[in-house]
Amino acid sequence: MTQPFAPAAFPYARPRRLRSSPWVRRLVAETTLTPADLIWPLIVHDGAEDRVPVASMPGVFRLSPRAAAEAAKEAHALGIPMVALFPNIDGAIKDAVGTGATDPDGLIPDCIRAIKDAVPDIGVMTDVALDCYTDHGHDGVVEDGRVLNDASLERLAEQAFIHAHTGADVVAPSDMMDGRVQAIREALEANGLHDTMILSYAAKFASAFYGPYRDAVGSAAMLVGDKKTYQMDYANSDEALREVAMDISEGADAVMVKPGMPYLDIVRRVHETFRVPTFAYQVSGEYAMMQASIANGWLDQDRAILETLHGFKRAGCAGVLTYFAPKAARLLGT
Ligand code: PBG
Repeated sequence: MTQPFAPAAFPYARPRRLRSSPWVRRLVAETTLTPADLIWPLIVHDGAEDRVPVASMPGVFRLSPRAAAEAAKEAHALGIPMVALFPNIDGAIKDAVGTGATDPDGLIPDCIRAIKDAVPDIGVMTDVALDCYTDHGHDGVVEDGRVLNDASLERLAEQAFIHAHTGADVVAPSDMMDGRVQAIREALEANGLHDTMILSYAAKFASAFYGPYRDAVGSAAMLVGDKKTYQMDYANSDEALREVAMDISEGADAVMVKPGMPYLDIVRRVHETFRVPTFAYQVSGEYAMMQASIANGWLDQDRAILETLHGFKRAGCAGVLTYFAPKAARLLGT
């Protein structure tokens, strides 16, 4: 930005003046972070126990539908507007086309109902993708070792419809098939679900940082090969803008960049180019990386959490998906 005046030089300019006490730092702060900026991802499971710890994500548990409803209550009390659901499905029901993804009485529909019963006023977002339900761990349908695009769209649209019909407020396709937003939007419109929001994982990169999540949902052991034929190459940035443009034109209400911290340059470009609500996901590997340092006493937990979350806001995020959501909301107060 060019300024309409010649900037003063030292000693007339002393930037430290505006940092000299807590009150003035608060007064001139350019961004704010509140619990309203947070989305809390919840890993849910269909096992018998209410809470099972995830080894690679200290502080994160696989939750039963009942425990997920409790977590949603906690989130609501803390001022967190929305939770996002991710399923760990019993391996015995996984198959090549991810049949479980479209079971109207499956784990995610159960969780949506349990949460909406317990806390009608919290937003519920669901992940639209097949990876948690397939025996090959891919987000779409696989044939002869290839992830099929168009055949996957039908499955994804049906999955999104079932979530929305059950009561999900926001469906979030994380699969990265071409044309999925359009397929989902058409299915929602055709069934009168005009108010369901689509938050698309528009710029989702093939990333090492999803490792702990795949462990948490039980898709890691299943995954055959990698996801590089559909998730983005981390060398690219212009391509992210094309992906976002497509998703908006197909009917996405809001978009997401994922992972978070290594991709804040993408957030900034997307936000400045499109001016639509832009979210980012501080993913499992980012969480695990920070928790490992915190556990070793190498990083101060509270300061590190708030600093990273402010980074997302500075880059232009409307909100952040983070496993630190309840901890951060407590730090911020409600
Ligand atoms: C896949 C999906 C992934 C995450 C959310 N949805 C991982 C992947 O693409 O393999 C990752 C979330 C995280 O790492 O916290 N549908």
